[in-house]
Amino acid sequence: MITGKEIRQQFVDFFISKGHTFVPSSPVIPTDDPTLLFTNAGMNQFKNIFLGLKEPSFPRAANSQKCIRAGGKHNDLEEVGKDGYHHTFFEMLGNWSFGDYYKQEAITWAWELLTEIWKLPKDKLHATVHHTDQEAFELWQKNTDINANYITYHGDKDNFWEMGETGPCGPCSEIHFDRGENYCDKSQTQGHECKVNGDCARYIELWNLVFIQYNRDDRGTLHPLPNRYVDTGAGLERICQILQNQTSNYHTDLFLPILDHISALSSIPYSKEDGISHRVIADHIRCLSFALADGGFPSNEGRGYVLRRILRRAARHGRLLNLHEPFLYKLVDTVIEVMGHHYHELIEKQHYVKSVIKAEEERFNQTLDTGLDKFNAIVSELKGDTIQGSDAFTLYDTYGFPLDLTTILAEERGLLVDLAGFEAEMELQKARAREAGNFKHNFTQMEWIELSDIQGTTFVGYTEPSVQTLVTRYTLDDNNGIAFQLEKTPFLAEAGGQVADTGTVSNAGFHIEVTDVRKQNDSYIHYGKLVSGVVDANPVTASINPEQRKRTARNHTATHLLHKSLRTVLGEHVQQKGSLVSPDYLRFDFAHFEALSKEQIRQTEQLVNEQILANIAVRTDIMNIEDARKTGAMALFGEKYGEEVRVVSVEHFSRELCGGTHVAATGDIGFFKITAETSSAAGIRRIEALTGDAAMRWVDELQDNFSRVAEKLNTPQKKLFERIDLLLKQQSDMAKELESLKQNAALDAVKALEEQAEVRDDYKLIITKVNATTTDEVRQLGDALKESASSTVAVLFATFDDKVTINVTVSKDLTGRFHAGKLAGQIAAWVGGKGGGKPDSAMAGGKDILALDNAIAETKKLLS
Ligand code: ALA
Repeated sequence: MITGKEIRQQFVDFFISKGHTFVPSSPVIPTDDPTLLFTNAGMNQFKNIFLGLKEPSFPRAANSQKCIRAGGKHNDLEEVGKDGYHHTFFEMLGNWSFGDYYKQEAITWAWELLTEIWKLPKDKLHATVHHTDQEAFELWQKNTDINANYITYHGDKDNFWEMGETGPCGPCSEIHFDRGENYCDKSQTQGHECKVNGDCARYIELWNLVFIQYNRDDRGTLHPLPNRYVDTGAGLERICQILQNQTSNYHTDLFLPILDHISALSSIPYSKEDGISHRVIADHIRCLSFALADGGFPSNEGRGYVLRRILRRAARHGRLLNLHEPFLYKLVDTVIEVMGHHYHELIEKQHYVKSVIKAEEERFNQTLDTGLDKFNAIVSELKGDTIQGSDAFTLYDTYGFPLDLTTILAEERGLLVDLAGFEAEMELQKARAREAGNFKHNFTQMEWIELSDIQGTTFVGYTEPSVQTLVTRYTLDDNNGIAFQLEKTPFLAEAGGQVADTGTVSNAGFHIEVTDVRKQNDSYIHYGKLVSGVVDANPVTASINPEQRKRTARNHTATHLLHKSLRTVLGEHVQQKGSLVSPDYLRFDFAHFEALSKEQIRQTEQLVNEQILANIAVRTDIMNIEDARKTGAMALFGEKYGEEVRVVSVEHFSRELCGGTHVAATGDIGFFKITAETSSAAGIRRIEALTGDAAMRWVDELQDNFSRVAEKLNTPQKKLFERIDLLLKQQSDMAKELESLKQNAALDAVKALEEQAEVRDDYKLIITKVNATTTDEVRQLGDALKESASSTVAVLFATFDDKVTINVTVSKDLTGRFHAGKLAGQIAAWVGGKGGGKPDSAMAGGKDILALDNAIAETKKLLS
């Protein structure tokens, strides 16, 4: 039997024989395309070539691309598991022409590979073309021996391919395979007819040949591209299914070892009919392994949220197989067995991927347990038989319950879920997210006052702190807040965590204080305050605040040293997850699973300070991104890098892609001090640190505080700890002494009360005022009396906080005759209050202090 590995290789070899260059798969987490959640097609990495923004290095390419379709335009998440051919993660075999060959070769070669190399029966292959594309229709007829009746026209829905809401696109021609009548799952449906692009599972699409000709802009308009391109994609898993003669992708060698592992862990064997949970888990663990190895990370937003949902979905299907403990992470090893030979990143990140998945599974198990409590609470308060959309949404949003889980749990109890209400809540949240995501300084719609035709801004700030230039346009608000652009600027815009420069822009006519700078495409937009004058078109001097720049630079270079040191001390899994570089301090978030020990913090700090002491020159080099990657420069996942990148290196120690400003040599940092290490989110730690004079001031302050403690304790610093131990011991001795004194005092008080007792025939009566300042004190006194005196009824009155507090106790042997609770109620009424309690002890109170003496007299009368 031909293996998946062989099929992948044969595809690539075939196209190499047709003059193509093999290109490795790009990561599934796109590093430079904000319009994409995940890499969803082989062409993603060539997008800029199609758009004419980048020159291709070769005219033809082929590869097998790792793809995830679990969000955005292409999303198969909800289909996974139900059938045998949808996946969140799959491999797309592809060949591309960059303005070289076009439709004819694309069609001819696809046909040749399918029918001559892979020998698929020609009478089972069908081709579709776009309804406007007569050319493709005729090419199929003329250049292949496909059955002419098997070429059909279809509309945009099936035969116009787009990568996302915007971007390169074009008409396409698909090749479908007829699996045979037995595969029809709609044969019972009235009027059903099996057909290509129909609604049954008989025909499956194997290969899509896209003829890229347009770019769709963000208004939805199509613009013709300068060149024509071929972009094709064939699903490796589906080709495996057909060539391995299986009924499902899951029954190929790409999935079987994973299904077997799931069966072994759960002791529930996989069955074709009943295997949804096995299939979901097998699919999702592939997706997670690749996404995490490529820099994805489960979180509460964006792609991280999609990954979290995928993991939770898999974990929940695990529960359906009685897997209640974390288990997904164990499957990573099997994914690697199947795929690691081709995708080495899986092997490199094996340990990391497993630990992230395990930690996330543990978290979800907790969530599930609290979520179930919430679900039960919702159900117990339910009126009617429908769970509100807003409740289902809370379960989803706050407790991580997927809607299908809520629905299943509801069904088990014979309840419904308001799905429309849920969708409405979801829309609201999306709208909120969109609003929050809007760039707060979006000035593209601003009414600029134009002073010059010059567009864009030249940044000169790496070398020049001050320049002569022109204000090209500006806009003012009512409070003299100003946004403006310059022809040339020394101001670095906020980027990569580094805050923007501040400074001044002025000439004889006006003066602006700059407080923030943002980059928008090629323009730098400066924000600030027009302090005096009227903005004019005369030359200005734009100067940054050099002191602030210097402090920021120290923190930025220190951040690079910290990043590298953490990787050295904790391991290579440490990845930057966020950073703030300001003039005052630096903050660095990174993936790691537990709090750092004191030792680790100390080691990290020492490693950074060693580099500072070595006073190593900091270099910046501009180079091509590929060369930069070859030098081992650390790039950040999710960052957008251009073709030319700036590499900042500290010789023999750290090398990172970075656009920020840095010190000339590490010695300029002066001194580095970590001031806090905390958790920032699950699996993410946060370090805050200071450099230079700020770090020294921090140490000074520490020293000052220590001295003040010594002064207060009137002890030399060296003896401080001895002194503190002594004080603590004295304090605990005194507390013991105080406790025993209190007890003695209480005994004395009780004794004094007992001495006041009036003796009746066969019981004693204590009715008196006592000194107390809290209700507890009165109660304790009453309790002590009850313990100590037998055959006694005691009523104690105390006044504090502008009220009367009453305690009534009755010895056990008298509770047949007197009821403390009832007495308390009666007595309280005389001071305008209420009270009650048990037969042997009760508390009561009233506000009427003036009635106290009368109440005592009445009590005496009552009990005599
Ligand atoms: N880019 C095309 C697809 O994904 C080939 O189907």
